[in-house]
Amino acid sequence: MDYDAIVLGAGGAGLLAAATAGQLGARVLVIDHADKPGKKILISGGGRCNFTNLGAGPKCYLSENPHFAKSALSRYTQHDFLALVERHGIAWHEKTLGQLFCDGSARQIVAMLLEECARGGAEIRLSTKIGEIAHADGLFRVAGVRAPQLVIATGGPSIPKMGATGIAFQIAARFGLGVVAPRPALVPLTLGPQDQDFLDISGVSCPVTARTGAATFAEAALFTHRGLSGPAILQASSYWTPGAPLTLDLMPKAADMLRAARRAMPRAHIRAVLAQHLPNRLAEVLAARIGATREMANMPDAELDRIAALLRGLSFQPTGTEGYAKAEVTAGGISTADLSSRTMEATRVPGLYAIGEAVDVTGWLGGYNFQWAWSSAVAAGQAIAARRMA
Ligand code: FDA
Repeated sequence: MDYDAIVLGAGGAGLLAAATAGQLGARVLVIDHADKPGKKILISGGGRCNFTNLGAGPKCYLSENPHFAKSALSRYTQHDFLALVERHGIAWHEKTLGQLFCDGSARQIVAMLLEECARGGAEIRLSTKIGEIAHADGLFRVAGVRAPQLVIATGGPSIPKMGATGIAFQIAARFGLGVVAPRPALVPLTLGPQDQDFLDISGVSCPVTARTGAATFAEAALFTHRGLSGPAILQASSYWTPGAPLTLDLMPKAADMLRAARRAMPRAHIRAVLAQHLPNRLAEVLAARIGATREMANMPDAELDRIAALLRGLSFQPTGTEGYAKAEVTAGGISTADLSSRTMEATRVPGLYAIGEAVDVTGWLGGYNFQWAWSSAVAAGQAIAARRMA
């Protein structure tokens, strides 16, 4: 054998797994078809990498098995990753909602991971195709090298123009692991012609509470020329299923606000009232939908309640998502039913591991996906080194 482990994918998960295993004494090779490591890290968080979230915990992840992520997340936490960032002297700040970003550049996170790989003696081979994977006599053979352990860390197919592929799912299938149907997540939703009035106000954003099914997210929504985006919508998109409605609460205190406006501005029309609380163009579209022509003073309580209900439950029937081309992550993936939650090793294929976005664990927007990449990587890296010693 040539190495103790071969890691497929030099993204965040693959690099940290290689560094962890290497520093614990394993000889590790990382293979990637890209010409640079950590390309998604470089573009993440608007170039500043939202590298973790202070609130990261199992409830912030979607998976067929919501308990699966618990073990890895609790054994390598956001505080552990933050300590690593600080050891490398990388300045950081909390932007909002526990989201931690580099003050400088996402390049610092990639440099840190490469330094950690170097400390562990892990080799990285870029611009290298994975090709066929052979498995015989306890050894995996890939790209001309052999090792008893193989890590699938090739992420998901979101943003294919950056070299993202679904190869993780093909490899999983080749080894008999289940794959939960992958789908674009943290992705803008599209609207149809029945919502043309909202498509016409592209660029307008406002705080909302977005709801779909049991999921609710209070953040900003953005109207686009194709539909809906912004953090609240991206978050909700991960829970949205085709055909389901998405509702926006634009004004939690709408009923009180309308009654107060009737007292304070009795001669005003609804459009002027709404424009005091919402962006002008949105107020105009809503007023047209509400269709009230009377002055506020002439609106009975029942009318105000009807308007309040509309403002609190503006309902859309999205026609779809903008797909992998615009999806920040891929939901679904290699089934957790076939992996050990402690080590990320395939339960029926000794020596095979899957980590990061390739696995059916998908985080909310806000640093949670990187935290899963780090936590699952460290779990696998430690297991690789332990297995080598055994
Ligand atoms: P990742 O996709 O990073 O790495 C996979 C590696 O495998 C890549 O290097 C790729 O080249 C390689 N590979 C793929 N197919 C291959 C093949 N066929 N052969 C060889 N190599 C192959 N998350 C977060 O927490 N905070 C944030 O700020 C952001 N921001 C963000 C912005 C944008 C625009 C996107 C698209 C995504 C984010 N994310 C994010 C999500 C985050 O980037 C993502 O969850 C992690 O990068 C996943 O790390 P992995 O290492 O699992 O996969």
